[in-house]
Amino acid sequence: MSDKLRVGIIGCGGMARNHVRGYLNCGRYEIVALADLNESAMADYEAMFHLGARHYTDAREMLAKENLDVVSIGTWHVGHAPWTIAAAAHRPKAILCEKPMADTLQAAEQMLIACKRNAVKLVIGHQRRFLPTYTLAKDLIAQGAIGDVQMMVSFGAQGLPNYCSHQTDMFRYFLSDDECEWVMGNVERKTDRWERNTRIEDCAIAIFQFRGGARAVILSEVTPLVYQGAHIYGSEGMIDLDTIELRLLNAETGGKWQTFRPDGKFFTANDERFEWLEGGAGQANELADWIEGKTETHRGRGENGFKALEMIHAVYESARMHEKVVLPLQTRLNPLDLMVESGHLEPQRPGRYDIRAFLLRGERMCSDDEP
Ligand SMILES: NC(=O)c1ccc[n+]([C@@H]2O[C@H](COP(=O)([O-])OP(=O)(O)OC[C@H]3O[C@@H](n4cnc5c(N)ncnc54)[C@H](O)[C@@H]3O)[C@@H](O)[C@H]2O)c1
Repeated sequence: MSDKLRVGIIGCGGMARNHVRGYLNCGRYEIVALADLNESAMADYEAMFHLGARHYTDAREMLAKENLDVVSIGTWHVGHAPWTIAAAAHRPKAILCEKPMADTLQAAEQMLIACKRNAVKLVIGHQRRFLPTYTLAKDLIAQGAIGDVQMMVSFGAQGLPNYCSHQTDMFRYFLSDDECEWVMGNVERKTDRWERNTRIEDCAIAIFQFRGGARAVILSEVTPLVYQGAHIYGSEGMIDLDTIELRLLNAETGGKWQTFRPDGKFFTANDERFEWLEGGAGQANELADWIEGKTETHRGRGENGFKALEMIHAVYESARMHEKVVLPLQTRLNPLDLMVESGHLEPQRPGRYDIRAFLLRGERMCSDDEP
């Protein structure tokens, strides 16, 4: 019998493909089963990866039959909590669920409870914590290379929960998981805009204050700039990074920008799709370490996924309540939904559209990802 961890995938779409690559590239897993509503999605995986896995159009049947060590969840956001809770009931060793953790904080909290109750390790797929530039930034900050962090600035798009939950997670990672104290922000939503079946804003701005004194800002679709990474301003220097390259400026660099392009643990910075391959492999490898007791925890553990989502929903809550929102967030429903559904923020140009509708297959124009 193989000593590899037995994996089953729920939702064989674009992102779970990256889970599969991560599992295969770190060499410690075997993908034994796939579940998707569309047989064609699973057939695409077989053509791509030659897995020889069993296929299920009913993910519950897969969970019941396959005795999985690890379950990956790659459905749209609304499906994350129900599928995590369903998978947890079968007590796999771990669940890797995509970000954003859930569509509401209430559902995210239930995911934590279900995993705790069943002794299942839960990881949320903020895979950029495994990029070497991100870890270098974290380490430089921890070593005091730029003094006290005074401000981090990032540029997002396509919805705060979708794109920018990576950025709230990144801020915490850079600050060695410091806690966010309060959030203030605003959103504009004139159109009925959705992203993977989740309501999103047309544009947003947000400010985050951290306990240790650092601050961060997200500007989402209020400027043409959009990328994963940040400008980081410290009392003694600056860091400017994206997913491949980091530039540092401080007294030691002679007041000039010094550029770093670090390789990953599995791939080199010059490899095609480096960001995705390295992030996915690093995330999967640390999960195997966690399962096998070689590490105490995982940097993408569920609690961190929860906090990244909480910071995002606190921006919506700030817009809803017209206040600086002190964490922990008490409102457990999605405050953007509450604003719209109460008539407080009615779309002025009606007509629902989903910016990810192109991902759907066949005749579907809306997702069927709720179990
Ligand atoms: N970590 C990242 O950088 C990153 C990047 C892209 C997407 N994502 C996340 O990944 C998730 C999926 O996004 P995507 O772009 O891969 O979507 P996708 O539409 O490509 O894939 C979703 C898949 O889930 C399947 N599915 C839906 N309901 C199901 C059910 N009940 N049972 C089984 N399968 C079901 C669909 O048929 C589809 O194949 C989203 O939550 C998204 O935010 C994360």
